[in-house]
Amino acid sequence: MLEVRDVDKRYGHTIAADKVSLEIYPGEMVSIAGHNGAGKSTLAKIIGGIVNRDAGEIIVNGESLPNPNTVRAARASGVALAFQEITLFPDLRVFEHVGAADLSEVDFGWRRRAQRDIKRQLDAMFPTHGISPQALVASLSLAQRQMMQIALSTVHPDGIRLLILDEPTSALSDDLATDLFAYLRRERDENGLSVVLVSHKIADSLNHSDRTVVMRDGAVVVDRPTSELTVRQLMTDMGAPPDAETPEAGEATEATDDSDDTRDVVVSVSGLSWRGLADVACTVRAGETVGLAGLESNGQRDLLEAVWRSRRFLKPRRIRSAVTVAGSIAYVSGDRQTEGLFPLWSVGRNMTIGTLSTLSRLGLVVPKKESYETSTWIEQISIKATAVDSIGSLSGGNQQKVLLARGMSQAPDLLILDDPFRGVDITTKAEAYRQLQDLADGGTAILWFTSENRELLECDRVYVLREGEVSAELKSGQLTTDQIILASFSETDDGGATS
Ligand SMILES: Nc1ncnc2c1ncn2[C@@H]1O[C@H](COP(=O)(O)OP(=O)(O)OP(=O)(O)O)[C@@H](O)[C@H]1O
Ligand SMILES: [Mg+2]
Repeated sequence: MLEVRDVDKRYGHTIAADKVSLEIYPGEMVSIAGHNGAGKSTLAKIIGGIVNRDAGEIIVNGESLPNPNTVRAARASGVALAFQEITLFPDLRVFEHVGAADLSEVDFGWRRRAQRDIKRQLDAMFPTHGISPQALVASLSLAQRQMMQIALSTVHPDGIRLLILDEPTSALSDDLATDLFAYLRRERDENGLSVVLVSHKIADSLNHSDRTVVMRDGAVVVDRPTSELTVRQLMTDMGAPPDAETPEAGEATEATDDSDDTRDVVVSVSGLSWRGLADVACTVRAGETVGLAGLESNGQRDLLEAVWRSRRFLKPRRIRSAVTVAGSIAYVSGDRQTEGLFPLWSVGRNMTIGTLSTLSRLGLVVPKKESYETSTWIEQISIKATAVDSIGSLSGGNQQKVLLARGMSQAPDLLILDDPFRGVDITTKAEAYRQLQDLADGGTAILWFTSENRELLECDRVYVLREGEVSAELKSGQLTTDQIILASFSETDDGGATS
């Protein structure tokens, strides 16, 4: 179906693709793994016609794609690409993106066709998407924007034969990811679709691919059947040292009795009804890591926002009376493009903007202190960049790590984590979990929302939200992914909890 032959790509001194060769057969699902900055997105964009290669050949169904390649040529040969970064227009409606993607299709009847096509794809992929084709993109949640972006990439008049998905589930909860993979399998079985999947969520790549290709520093280093792969093996293939910790889900730990927990309460929420939340109560103590679980859009992010807003001077009355936070707050967003990064600034400035007062004397930043601070973080969480690089030249996972460093370096009393590991590779995740634990040991309270259930096992306690209410509080002894899933579904859902 696809043959990539000796493809090279450089950005200045960075070798993003180094003699990459790869074959994908009809109906095959192939996972591409690799550390942040290994060159996965670059390869995807070269195949999809977004980025030009310096050398090498791309052959689809026996036909060589031109160089410079174009999106149109790639699409005409049946190749579609869903990007890692959300590339939608906030001020356009959902269906209008179908027209924007291919202006040659815009004629008198296009609006009706576009609405029908995007709805059909969304319904087929994500039965519970809740997205109206008429909605403005700005009104959609990050997960909805991700669903829309994937569905949009598959709207094609002549059908798709190879679908490249770059981090498709990074903002999707486990149940939405399950829907997506069910769709992909159906398309493969019925229409022979080939799929290339790039994902840092271990469950995605280990459970849903026939073969795994590992890239390291721009080159393909391993190509083996996924059935032969373990998490440890994958990390070794990706270049992790043999003694690196694995972020594997631990067993439920011993139950602890916290009735005599005397640590200070940092976050106290009681009777909070705001946006989608109904009478929510929760606490986070100093040194505690508390997770928020539940199905997509059941109030988790509303709760994070309410806690964050409680420190604002102007805040809704309902938050004022229901939420108190003692001490300073730092916030790490997973929606890096919209609410995290300063796109015109360097890596270093993006990182230190939250700690400038501690890096200054007499109101002026001391460059030595700043560069010491940034180089320490760049090393600690393996950011593949230097402090002076522009943030936009970093790979997605490396951009996300800069935001993590910004939040952690503030050593706040409360650290709010809003899916902070979106697109961060598994080797770094293990190290970052350890750093979070260090922060907590130093007294920081951590409130953590994640779209990946296994990540919740890193927490001391987890609140499960269901339709805006706290449906369960799981303490360390009861904390398993099964318990989380069970508490996420309502009693009336038919069997979803066990599927
Ligand atoms: N437009 C660009 N300008 C300069 N360097 C770039 C550009 N795009 C990518 N790079 C560099 O190329 C390398 C590969 O980046 P790429 O985005 O392909 O990595 P990736 O494997 O997708 O990583 P991640 O897992 O974080 O998404 C990185 O070192 C990155 O900094
Ligand atoms: Mg990438």
